[in-house]
Amino acid sequence: MNRQLFASLPDRVQVYEVSPRDGLQNEPLQVPTPGKVRLIEALVAAGLRRLEATSFVSPRWVPQLADAEQLARFLPRREGVTYSALCPNAQGLERALGAHMDEVAVFLSVSETHNKKNVNKTVAETLAAFRDVVPPALAAGLRVRAYLSTLWGCPYEGTVDPRKGVEIVRRLFDLGCYEVSLGDTIGVGTPLQTRKILDLFLEEFPASRLALHFHDTRGTALANVMVGLELGIRTFDASIAGLGGCPYAPGAAGNLATEDLVYTLHGMGIETGIDLDKLVEAGRVAEAVVGRPLPGKVHQAGVRSLRG
Ligand code: HMG
Ligand code: MG
Repeated sequence: MNRQLFASLPDRVQVYEVSPRDGLQNEPLQVPTPGKVRLIEALVAAGLRRLEATSFVSPRWVPQLADAEQLARFLPRREGVTYSALCPNAQGLERALGAHMDEVAVFLSVSETHNKKNVNKTVAETLAAFRDVVPPALAAGLRVRAYLSTLWGCPYEGTVDPRKGVEIVRRLFDLGCYEVSLGDTIGVGTPLQTRKILDLFLEEFPASRLALHFHDTRGTALANVMVGLELGIRTFDASIAGLGGCPYAPGAAGNLATEDLVYTLHGMGIETGIDLDKLVEAGRVAEAVVGRPLPGKVHQAGVRSLRG
């Protein structure tokens, strides 16, 4: 194994599973709640421990996740498993607290146009609204994650200045978020760009407080993960079988497939705590639940080679 190619590989990384939220929010039809529960059960059985289960957003904006409270009642609660949900405002927090979520996640974009289309506010207004979410969530005993979207490029504005992202992330940490997941929402990023973006962020923030969230629209997600690994990032978001996208970001195809990420990490001798065979089974469940073929590579090819 060419571990020497990499200067600093970790023994272990964390996989943060977003398919029940990022995956199912983008399906043309609302998946019935029992199907969502089946999917989450299969993901937990495969060893995933951090899952984003749903969103407490406006059901008018994202009807696919309108059953958030109902789903929360049937989540398989297990020792060591934490469930998070997107939460854009005070109303979302109230719902999340009522549903006994372990965590919530706030979200905004670097680019004004995507932010406006996604949450109907400017970036400044969105940050101001987080004051009604983050401190009260912390006071209620919840941890708060944050997402920063469109950092690698915006579907409406094109190129984005990552330095603006650094300013926003500073504000998110000041508010009390424990981790910020940096998002390539439309999957345009390439490795050298990822290196430049991360160099900027790592001048200001410890790698342990950053996660990476790649959509795999152009097949570059894993290459970007490798850059993140090399630079010390230890948490990566992924979605089973490559489900996913943002309904307010045209061209945002599926997220990096969890099986592809885990297959690659395990092949490099990096532990995840996930059983890859069971993860592949969870991919089959995902496909059955959404009723269409899913794009993940390992999902399609299987774990073992023909020679094996
Ligand atoms: P708005 O229309 O400006 O909201 O939407 P408003 O405050 O004016 O309220 C309007 C109506 O919405 C009211 O109802 C509120 O009660 C209701 P009405 O009186 O008209 O009947 N409302 C809510 N209902 C339930 N739960 C709530 C809530 N808030 C208001 N929390 C809002 C603003 C933020 C609500 C809306 O724009 C929204 O829900 N947007 C969500 C968009 C979204 O979920 N996008 C996808 C997730 S982001 C993503 O995928 C990127 C990510 O994966 C990272 C990456 O890839 O980069 C995270
Ligand atoms: Mg996303």
